[in-house]
Amino acid sequence: MRIVRCAGYREMSRQAANLISAQVIMKPSCVLGLATGSSPVGAYDQLAEWVKKKDLSFAEVSTVNLDEYRGLAPQDSHSYRYFMDNNLFDRVDVRKERTNVPDGLCADPAAECARYDALVDRLGGIDLQLLGIGRNGHIGFNEPGDAFIRDTHLTALTESTLEANRRFFEDASQMPCEALTLGIRHILQARRVVVIASGVEKADAIARAFTGPVTPRLPASILQFHPDVVLVADEAALSLLDKAEAAV
Ligand code: F6R
Repeated sequence: MRIVRCAGYREMSRQAANLISAQVIMKPSCVLGLATGSSPVGAYDQLAEWVKKKDLSFAEVSTVNLDEYRGLAPQDSHSYRYFMDNNLFDRVDVRKERTNVPDGLCADPAAECARYDALVDRLGGIDLQLLGIGRNGHIGFNEPGDAFIRDTHLTALTESTLEANRRFFEDASQMPCEALTLGIRHILQARRVVVIASGVEKADAIARAFTGPVTPRLPASILQFHPDVVLVADEAALSLLDKAEAAV
């Protein structure tokens, strides 16, 4: 793992955007695996700015998002499709038909999960997977559990995730408690993984993911097996990792 140490959220965003734009420049028809949440917003702003200035183009890029809430329509402002359109896709020159987010409204989740895995396979896998990390160590919505789940699946969100994400819902009772998420296989098969983390509330998950045992109780720990992980994080998010490494 390579660590890109940043002073704060702004620098983390810029460094993550640099890695994504390098990927797009190197392989214009690349497949980007994308995340939602607070962590990537600054990187998406930076990418949109570069595209606006014509320093970068997403014209040939395909994207696959990690996850979507079950039961939310694409037009719902809380859906991850809506988030992606607003924060990135509508601000860059990506072709909308090449952007993919699981269908939260699907009638048959098992069929939708199989469709999504087949789609990622058909695209030839993911070139660069951008990941945020949950305070409980989730990646995508691969929540802590008894086993790593290989394929795209429907998952019940844990109390920790529901609590962390309630801030995005004006009416907490409207928050779905299930989501469709890419499984561990496609994340691990991504040719490069970029993990972004900012803030002290991520410090424990980051330290345990990269220095603790590999366990489904902390799904991000599986990234220790990936040969090309770049962790782009600020000092606060790295604080406990630094301590754990100093203790070795
Ligand atoms: C979002 C996703 C989640 C988030 C994680 C961190 O698509 O897959 O794993 O990356 O919950 O969320 P933030 O960035 O809001 O702290």
